Amino acid sequence: MEEDGKVACLGRLPFPDKIMKITPQAIYSKKQTGEKIVSLSLYDFPTARIADEAGVDLIMVGDSVGMVLSGHENTLGVTIEHMLYHTVAVSKAVKRATVVADMPVHSYDDPESALSNAQRFLKEAGADAVKLEGGTKVRAQVQRLVAAEIPVMGHVGMLPQNIGNGKYRVYGKNPEEAKVILEDAKLLDKVGVFSLVLECVPSKLAEEITKTVRCPTIGIGAGSSTDGQVLVFQDLLGIRSGVSPRFVRRYANLEEILGKAARSFCRDVRRKKFPSKKESFS
Ligand code: KIV
Repeated sequence: MEEDGKVACLGRLPFPDKIMKITPQAIYSKKQTGEKIVSLSLYDFPTARIADEAGVDLIMVGDSVGMVLSGHENTLGVTIEHMLYHTVAVSKAVKRATVVADMPVHSYDDPESALSNAQRFLKEAGADAVKLEGGTKVRAQVQRLVAAEIPVMGHVGMLPQNIGNGKYRVYGKNPEEAKVILEDAKLLDKVGVFSLVLECVPSKLAEEITKTVRCPTIGIGAGSSTDGQVLVFQDLLGIRSGVSPRFVRRYANLEEILGKAARSFCRDVRRKKFPSKKESFS
């Protein structure tokens, strides 16, 4: 099958000759088939290519870029221009996965700015969808985008744009907080999001939301009952050694590999072992 001519040859996938572009609608449909949705949050061309070729279904260009790549304490300094820049790089690399651009703080304060900024992500940066944080507070914004046929991903539970320098913790442990999160999830589902991120919520609450809403849920620190899972690629690769939330599983120790390579380069240059004749021009 082919959509918008977006068919690619991806050598590392099981069926390398014809690969179909995964649309937000296809992500939505995965809930019916019960197939788990695999997602990574990443920010650049090479990691996007690697993740796409590995078979990741949905790539988020998260505003966590402000913390992971720029070293900030939170996501509040991330601007629309930063996010467009990273989304362009990711979209260029991705042939198969759905690309979801995170709308940064203050880029969707009202429905009209939400619409014009979301359109920039789709038209200028090549994203397939956008993500907004919050429930009731962003109802009008989500409605505006859905009416304009822009696929929207919701995000409830811990909302990094809300807490700023505050506490990164599990949200929804007490019944009042859990009720608000559940109601927000139901509202977003009703308004028409194609999927919903559940961040740092108790597994039981995530399970209840997943059973209640029609759209698929994608968890991060939300247990195993969600319809899909997302992690920040750098966390999974072991490249953010200072940060190790309980919900992260490290599949590699790139920090060690990169450090070793850098130390070898230092040694070779200092011992005049680099460059060799072969690595030089005559
Ligand atoms: O910013 C981000 O990377 C995210 C995902 C982890 C959900 O919001």
